[in-house]
Formats: sequence, structure tokens, C-alpha cells
Amino acid sequence: MTDKLIIFDTTLRDGEQSPGASMTKDEKLRIARLLERLRVDVIEAGFAASSNGDFECIRSIAGAVKDSTICSLSRANDRDIARSAEALAGANRARIHVFLATSPLHMEKKLRMTPEQVFEQAVSSIRFARNLCEDVEFSAEDGYRSDPDFLCRVFEAVIKEGATTINVPDTVGYAIPELYGDFIKDLRERIPNSDKAIWSVHCHNDLGMAVANSLAGVKIGGARQVECTINGLGERAGNCSLEEVVMAIKTRKDYFGLDVNIDAQHIVAASRMVSQTTGFVVQPNKAVVGANAFAHASGIHQDGVLKARDTYEIMRAEDVGWAANKIVLGKLSGRNAFKQRLQELGVEMESEGEINAAFTRFKELADRKSDIFDEDILALVSDEHAISHKDSFGFVSLSQHSETGERPHAKVVFTAEGKEVQGEADGNGPVDASLKAIESHVKSGAEMVLYSVNAISGSTESQGEVTVRLQSSGRVVNGVGADPDIVVASAKAYLSALNKLQSKSERVAAQG
Ligand code: KIV
Ligand code: ZN
Repeated sequence: MTDKLIIFDTTLRDGEQSPGASMTKDEKLRIARLLERLRVDVIEAGFAASSNGDFECIRSIAGAVKDSTICSLSRANDRDIARSAEALAGANRARIHVFLATSPLHMEKKLRMTPEQVFEQAVSSIRFARNLCEDVEFSAEDGYRSDPDFLCRVFEAVIKEGATTINVPDTVGYAIPELYGDFIKDLRERIPNSDKAIWSVHCHNDLGMAVANSLAGVKIGGARQVECTINGLGERAGNCSLEEVVMAIKTRKDYFGLDVNIDAQHIVAASRMVSQTTGFVVQPNKAVVGANAFAHASGIHQDGVLKARDTYEIMRAEDVGWAANKIVLGKLSGRNAFKQRLQELGVEMESEGEINAAFTRFKELADRKSDIFDEDILALVSDEHAISHKDSFGFVSLSQHSETGERPHAKVVFTAEGKEVQGEADGNGPVDASLKAIESHVKSGAEMVLYSVNAISGSTESQGEVTVRLQSSGRVVNGVGADPDIVVASAKAYLSALNKLQSKSERVAAQG
């Protein structure tokens, strides 16, 4: 009999903490539904007390997603914990995740608390949480840099109070696989009631070892929960990547001897959805989900794979959802085929009206572009969402003139708070002129910190997908836009970033 490894996805909480990766409620709901199809065991949907927006996201995900446990992060105080319980009230299965820093550095410099005070607060917060929820996780923030004797005291006490999962975060990505595995093993061996809780790993990727550390925590340390994010999204160098850890466990079952619930067929769809929603592009050579992950360019490899696939392939592309990377729809595809593909991609639209509007846009796109790929559909859905939200900026039309030796000029028509407006400007190039045209009307004053263009499906016939990152008053947001015309895609991305800047979501930051 094999043991089960719990997959705890924190794309919507720790992943979203990455500057610029903030997501709207609808976007989070869409991703949560796909995570449910992926059969993720626990979805950390947010940090309820951090903002009203986060609270509402958790509430709507708890109401909509029924197969996964829905979790909310809380600092170790009654107010945060009560807020999490309130947001999770509609969930089939709920978890409250309480965190408190335990390293000398964090206790002294950040919390300004003595170890004794931290101990007392950890115990009382878990007692309070257990009165509101049966499933309570305790995380010792910066756990890996904490004193093991102190950690043993804290963990033993919170398990006594009813904590059902004990998480040992490597908050700053400092661990080395063998040492991290031994660290957890040692804690489990020393704590008398350690078998009353499930042990969990949560690794950041600052030294590029988040996946290796997590796997060592499982193999050496005996952890049975891995906290991870799609595409490894997360602050700084990111978190442990879900697709890599899951495929390592599946592919090397001979070594790990563990089962995971994950339906890997949805991995590529989830990766694309997260990348398109946040504007965090997946590098081509990224394991499992990178565009080149299964491409064999060298003649020797191609020859080998044709003769016997396992000469150079340890996983099958179709098992992680790459088979879906085919031409999926075209000009003659009907509304039902379109709707079905949306469902297969994990996209649930709010109403038939929204599907109809998206289908009309799909037809318009199919008139301009013969083959429609999954990425096109996802981009179209994001656009549709922006348009259906009347208070936001929405693209209407654009004209621009550029010619060698002349300064480009652009005119952009767009909606602002439901009214059609327009701006005109010159620029260094057509994209620059178009964005300046928008800015001439909006006057956001935001600083552009990133502009990138990516061909959605690889050729010049494909849609260009543009990411624009704007910074204003300390906030960083990403906007994404797609269109066969990259100037239009750029204008859409800029408007989408302005929409995000407008939605004021002041939030309390969780560490790590
Ligand atoms: O990295 C970390 O320590 C965290 C905790 C809040 C679990 O994200
Ligand atoms: Zn973290």
C-alpha cells in the first residue's frame, strides 16, 4: 500500500504576493475551478483579513469549489482567524492556516516579541482556531532558520491544541535538500505527539532548490504535504512549482512510493491560465510546462524518439496536457464546440450572455486567423471579462500611422467608466504612440517597468500577447492583452493594467 502525498496549492495566496501578479475575483475563481479539476487537495484561496477583496475571493471560491479543501491564511490573532472562518463558512471542507514567525531574527526584529510570547500566542491562536474549524494548519514562518529546540516546544504544544497540519517553511529559500530533509526528520523524531499531525513543506526558490528541498522534506523528512504554486509563481524567485513536484512524484514512483490525487492532464491548461492571467511568462525551457519541455531539436534525439520514445523521454507530453496544444477550433466551429472547449479548459463563464459575447469575438478572430489554439481562447476570455465590466477601461479601436523617416502617430478609442473617449499622440514607435495616446486622456502618471511581447502560438500568424507592468504609488500591476495586431495587443494590455491600478486593494502583506 502506498502513502498519499497531499498537494496544497497556494498560487492564489503566496503566488499572488509576487509584485504585479495580483488577480481579480473572477480570475481567481476561474483558476480555483481549474485547480479543482486538477484535483488539488487543498486550495489556499487567500488571506481573508488582508483586504475586503481577498475576503470576497475566498468566500466566492468556498461557495463554488466543492471537491478541494479551501484554505484561508491568518496571522496568529483572533481577529484574523475569525475573519478566515467567516470567509470559509460556505466551504464543503475548510482549513484555517495560522502562521507565526519562530526564527530569532523574525521574533526579535520583525515581531519584537520574546520567544515566550511567541509560544503563548501560537498556542492560544490554535486553540481559538480549533473552536471554529476542525482542520487547522500551523506554520512556523522562517521555520528552517529557527532553533530546533524552540520549534519542538512550539510544535508539540500546537499539536496538543489540535493543529492537524504542521508546516515547516523555508521562507527565504535558504535550505539545502539533505539538510532540510534531516531538519524535518529530526523534529518529527523528537516531538512525542508528531504522529498526530500531517507534516508539510513550504519552500521558496531563492537558490533554485525549492522543488529539490520539498522532495527531500518528503523523502527524508517524512512530510506528507507539499505547498506549491502553478509555474512556481511567487515572490522573488518564486515557490516550489506544482507541476515539477507532481511529475517527479509520479514519474519516480519507484523511488518515492507515493500517490498524488492530481489529474496531470490539466497541468498545461493550468500553467497557461496562470501565465496569461498574471502576465508572468513561462520560460521555454521550464520543466514540464515550458514550450520546449518536450521538443527534440537535435537530430540524434529526434531519431531516437522516433525509434523508441523512451530513449529520450521520461514523461509523455500528452499525460500533462500537451496534446491539447493542437489547432482546436476554426472558422467553421460552432457555439457548442466553443462552449465545450471552454469547459475543457476549465473556464466557466458567468452567464449565457457572456458566452454569446465571447463566441462573437471568437468568430471575429477566426475571420482574421485561420487556426485558433487554446491560448487564443484563453486570451479572448480575459478580454471578454474586461469588456463586460462596465466601470473599467475597455479597448474599442485604434489607428496609427508609421513610415520610415516619420514620427509615428496613433489615435486610440476606448471606454472609460462606460463612456467612449479617445486620445492621440506621437511616439518613438507605433506602440509607444498608442500607449501615449491612452495616457494623454487617462493621465495615470504610472511608470512602465516592463513591456514584453510573445507570439501566443509560435509564428507570425499567431496572436501577439503583450504584458505591460505598471508601477504607481508603490503598487505594481501587470496587464495582459492579445491580438493578431501587436499594437492593438499593447493598447489592450495597457488598459488592462490601468484597470488593475484603479481597483484599490490595500492589503496587509503576509510574509514569505
Ligand atoms: O513562506 C512562508 O513562510 C509563508 C507562510 C505564511 C506559510 O508563506
Ligand atoms: Zn511562502
